[in-house]
Amino acid sequence: MIIVKNILKKFTQGTTQVCAVNKVSFQVEKGKTLAIVGPSGSGKTTLLSLLAGLDRPDSGEITISEQTLSTLNEEELSHFRGTNMGIVFQQFHLMPQLTAVENVRLPLDIHGTFNAREKALKALDDVGLAKRADHLPNQLSGGECQRVAIARATVVEPQILFADEPSGNLDTETGKKISEVLFGLVRKKHMTMILVTHDLELASQCDSMIRIEGGVLH
Ligand SMILES: Nc1ncnc2c1ncn2[C@@H]1O[C@H](COP(=O)(O)OP(=O)(O)OP(=O)(O)O)[C@@H](O)[C@H]1O
Ligand SMILES: [Mg+2]
Repeated sequence: MIIVKNILKKFTQGTTQVCAVNKVSFQVEKGKTLAIVGPSGSGKTTLLSLLAGLDRPDSGEITISEQTLSTLNEEELSHFRGTNMGIVFQQFHLMPQLTAVENVRLPLDIHGTFNAREKALKALDDVGLAKRADHLPNQLSGGECQRVAIARATVVEPQILFADEPSGNLDTETGKKISEVLFGLVRKKHMTMILVTHDLELASQCDSMIRIEGGVLH
């Protein structure tokens, strides 16, 4: 389902170059979950952005569901992302002026999906937040905002879910609940998931784990 071959990504910081992802290769089978662990600054978010097609590698190849990302132009890539992938960020990335249900229905509206509000409400119900549908993000707790973000990432029923430290901004107890919601949904919808975390307990719930340090897999 996901094949990563020898990808490399460099950034220029002033006069020096940082190799954030250095010749990384791995594969994930359909329906499996993979954890990416590693210290701060090791290249986890960069790697996830490349996989999700939010950024392009300098070299190497990423193939997802038999589609090689480098062969797609920006528009095709954005469409591919919208129909195949869901992304959950550490900072939630909700639109502050939109209610929970309006945030969740955004990906559906982009596709012009019929019955968007009903589908978005169902997705909110799946994460246990049906009652807060008409609240704005600033009226919700951090854990609730992350549930909204998970509902938004999964509302189009993507085959693949990328999550970058989904519980990193939450207290331990809330973080645990969010992980349960996430893993519950992934199992129920048979999604393939790549989860970035530095929580080894959370990582151990995945089918497999890879460790990145200084941009290199260990
Ligand atoms: N846009 C950018 N421009 C320049 N350098 C960058 C950029 N993005 C990331 N880097 C550098 O690449 C390296 C990897 O960063 P990355 O954000 O992938 O780490 P991370 O493993 O996600 O860290 P954390 O656990 O703190 O989120 C770091 O040295 C970082 O400073
Ligand atoms: Mg990061």
